[in-house]
Amino acid sequence: MSEAVQHYDVIIIGAGAAGLHCAAHAAARGKSVIVLDHAKQAGKKILISGGGRCNFTNMFASAENYLSDNPHFCKSALKQYTPWDFIALVERHGIAYHEKTLGQLFCDVSAKDIVSMLLKECKQYGAKVQLRTDITAVEYHQQKYELTTSQGQLTSTALVVACGGLSMPKLGATPFGYQLAEQFGHTILPVRAGLVPFTLHDTDKQQYAELSGLAVDVIASTAADAKMSASFTEAMLFTHRGLSGPAMLQLSSYWQAGEVIDINLLPRFELLQQLQQLRQQRPKLGLRSALQEWLPKRLVQVLAQSQGWPNKNLADCNNQLLQKVAEDIQAWRLKPNGTEGYRTAEVTLGGVDTKEISSKTMQSTIQPQLYFIGEVMDVTGWLGGYNFQWAWSSAYACSQHL
Ligand code: FDA
Repeated sequence: MSEAVQHYDVIIIGAGAAGLHCAAHAAARGKSVIVLDHAKQAGKKILISGGGRCNFTNMFASAENYLSDNPHFCKSALKQYTPWDFIALVERHGIAYHEKTLGQLFCDVSAKDIVSMLLKECKQYGAKVQLRTDITAVEYHQQKYELTTSQGQLTSTALVVACGGLSMPKLGATPFGYQLAEQFGHTILPVRAGLVPFTLHDTDKQQYAELSGLAVDVIASTAADAKMSASFTEAMLFTHRGLSGPAMLQLSSYWQAGEVIDINLLPRFELLQQLQQLRQQRPKLGLRSALQEWLPKRLVQVLAQSQGWPNKNLADCNNQLLQKVAEDIQAWRLKPNGTEGYRTAEVTLGGVDTKEISSKTMQSTIQPQLYFIGEVMDVTGWLGGYNFQWAWSSAYACSQHL
């Protein structure tokens, strides 16, 4: 490399949530910093997140909201930089926000405000953001990282990998972060799509397709014998491909291929008892009409067909039948065909194994001056602002130790 090569204290690969946040904080501490990204625009995922309003954090974020082979790994960073620290930053920039539900904070106006804020912070402290830059080689020589890029060569003392996961390749996601980690001897834990809609087998798909667009509040759970147990009380949405909505997206992160899922379509309701009571009070009422008191008509009709409920008055329904109907509704068991995969997934589960990373500094324990932040690591949050909070917290923790 020639003498003219530009040298930085820190090169960050990835101008997403984690990369931009880390750049501003490291620059604020006096480091010379450049962020490189192959995309034309910084923070593309932020821009489309939360339906364009960015669910930028969750007030109640804690280690329990994250999946990782090491569930304790995220604790230190979440403590070093809490949701309240990010909220304070948002408030300093005068960005209006509101709580939608369950501690989820969204911009009132647009996710663009969050990207502008991060870019302003970078500019204020002198961190450079260089887009449209393809990185073709990264080497480590004489305590320096040497990067060959489509925009020339650069060197740095520290290298921060903030390339994110594989979800939404359309937005610029690549496996580059994993490849770089492997190049320097890191272990990559198996990756798969998370926070993603389920697809159904053909028969189920045909049966439930006409419910497409219908949303119901449910309790969705992995089966008792599932590899990972989880249960979420949120809305479920029927789609023309399968099942989506917050409850299903959350569950998808815990579900393993081939497992069944259990859905309670009438949570917190004594259905069997209510049906028996109604049988006494209104014996001539049809079973399906009775169910329509609590469930959408379309859903009752489709379930009656798929579960084979007879078209009888309540008076003609014995306890055994009512029990079956209650179970069909409150312990509805389905075997998804799979998920929609990275094309629509919000996150990637798995990634760079945290066993080889310091939880306090995000620094590699096997390669000098190499750091990992954000989604590229094996830390994945629930739906609801937890993934951005991980990006902010891990980025900050790293920035303070560069
Ligand atoms: P991120 O993906 O943000 O950034 C990685 C950057 O690296 C990108 O800019 C990419 O272009 C760049 N890059 C990749 N490969 C490269 C290469 N080879 N060379 C150079 N650059 C490269 N979370 C949340 O908390 N609240 C929400 O509302 C949402 N909503 C949401 C909606 C949708 C549609 C998606 C897909 C995701 C979400 N998320 C979310 C998840 C959240 O967006 C995600 O967890 C964070 O953006 C992760 O931040 P990172 O900085 O780690 O990666």
